[in-house]
Amino acid sequence: MARRHRIYEGKAKILYEGPDPGTVIQYFKDDATAFDAVKKATIAGKGVLNNRISAHLMAYLEGAGIPTHFLRSINMREQLVRRVEVVPVEVVIRNVAAGSLCKRLGLKEGTPLPRPLLEYYFKNDALHDPLVGEDHIFCFGWADQYEMEDMTHIAWRVNDRLSGLFAGSGLRLIDMKMEFGRIWGENGELYIVLADEISPDTCRIWDAATGEKLDKDRFRYDLGDLVEGYQKVAHRLGLVPEGGIIEGGSINEQLAAGLGVIEATRVGRHLRAVPKPPGKPWKG
Ligand SMILES: Nc1ncnc2c1ncn2[C@@H]1O[C@H](COP(=O)(O)OP(=O)(O)O)[C@@H](O)[C@H]1O
Ligand SMILES: [Mg+2]
Repeated sequence: MARRHRIYEGKAKILYEGPDPGTVIQYFKDDATAFDAVKKATIAGKGVLNNRISAHLMAYLEGAGIPTHFLRSINMREQLVRRVEVVPVEVVIRNVAAGSLCKRLGLKEGTPLPRPLLEYYFKNDALHDPLVGEDHIFCFGWADQYEMEDMTHIAWRVNDRLSGLFAGSGLRLIDMKMEFGRIWGENGELYIVLADEISPDTCRIWDAATGEKLDKDRFRYDLGDLVEGYQKVAHRLGLVPEGGIIEGGSINEQLAAGLGVIEATRVGRHLRAVPKPPGKPWKG
């Protein structure tokens, strides 16, 4: 493979410079981290499953007219996305009480919320991504009023769409975290798009019938084999065969590679032209 420039290596992904200006390749690693990377492991197949699930969900949202960074799948571990300037505000939507909300407000896990709840967190690992209010965001200039309107509006739509999609697949979307990015158009106009990933790393997903947890909480709290949960999610969404693509701790490479190609073809419809390099400087 031709040499490529690595832009960034995070906990779960590596970003490489893409083939066209304004694009990047997301490479999904098999690394799992929790509790600010205090707990770490490498889990065969996690990257393949997350790449596939995220590509599918992003393409699905694009199809519903929701702007995302997604362009196309490349192979079983990589996808091509638009390069964005990441807004340092994470948007969380919750449908059912779980995780930090339970700790903070003393709620019992699994309690359905009176209505979906939207929260903002400052994206800063060193500070452990603290919960913030809208005024913090404006006061410190992390995003402006128009960007926040777009982000919030997109987040509600994503939650609606994915809750429905999951419900139709026997899954319950408990909560999810979203990241957004800025893209500048040819005339310097600004677009906000959904970025990063949507996967069982960033969503809580329970089996609708049994309540079984199928997301990263399996890893956080040692609830069972992580990949097994992710495979169930992928299977329910119609992305992998029943047995999954990981058997006995190793990937069935041939099967996984074939699935990567199917996805690329399927989402090809959503391919859009990549804009010219922006008028403003890219970050990173
Ligand atoms: N389209 C994009 N363009 C530029 N950066 C992105 C894009 N999508 C996601 N990112 C950023 O790339 C990083 C993805 O790698 P990840 O392993 O999730 O990192 P982290 O350890 O920071 O969570 C994140 O910091 C995310 O904000
Ligand atoms: Mg991340």
